[in-house]
Amino acid sequence: MKKYLAVLALAGVFAACGGGSGSTKSGDSTAASSSSSAGDITANPDYIKGLALVQNNDCLTCHTISDPKVGPPYEKVAAKYAGVDTAVDYLAKKILSGGEGVWGATKMTPHPALPLDSAKQIVKYILLLKPAATK
Ligand code: HEC
Repeated sequence: MKKYLAVLALAGVFAACGGGSGSTKSGDSTAASSSSSAGDITANPDYIKGLALVQNNDCLTCHTISDPKVGPPYEKVAAKYAGVDTAVDYLAKKILSGGEGVWGATKMTPHPALPLDSAKQIVKYILLLKPAATK
């Protein structure tokens, strides 16, 4: 019985050492999505929260990340507003009120039921999608 416990304790120590030896940083790609080369934005909390909101709303019926659909691809939106201070406020309000004329004549439907904070969270997510090359 004692021997059994000692083995268990040893196994515990061993596991702890193995887990802590810095292997998390060395690029095994289990956590990173393979869909993009833009680093590890998928670990960013703004990305995770924003993506969930986008998926729970109707956004993806008109937008994709990289291909034009009814609305502009989010990559293009991110590139267009990169470095613009007012982008989060402006785009969040535009999502709530809808509109047209920036990307073409097609209109985005308004989303008045979406809380402004959620819209801002979505915009933070969209702005992260900027392709690395356009930095
Ligand atoms: C019915 C289709 C449709 C839906 C649904 C839709 N969009 Fe759009 N979206 C558009 C169109 C069309 C435009 C381009 C508007 C323009 O040219 O001003 C656009 C533009 C945008 C822009 C850029 C605005 C600008 O002024 O540059 C953002 C950001 C955006 N949409 C986010 C969203 C989000 C987030 C959702 C979900 C809550 C959403 N859209 C749902 C069609 C849609």
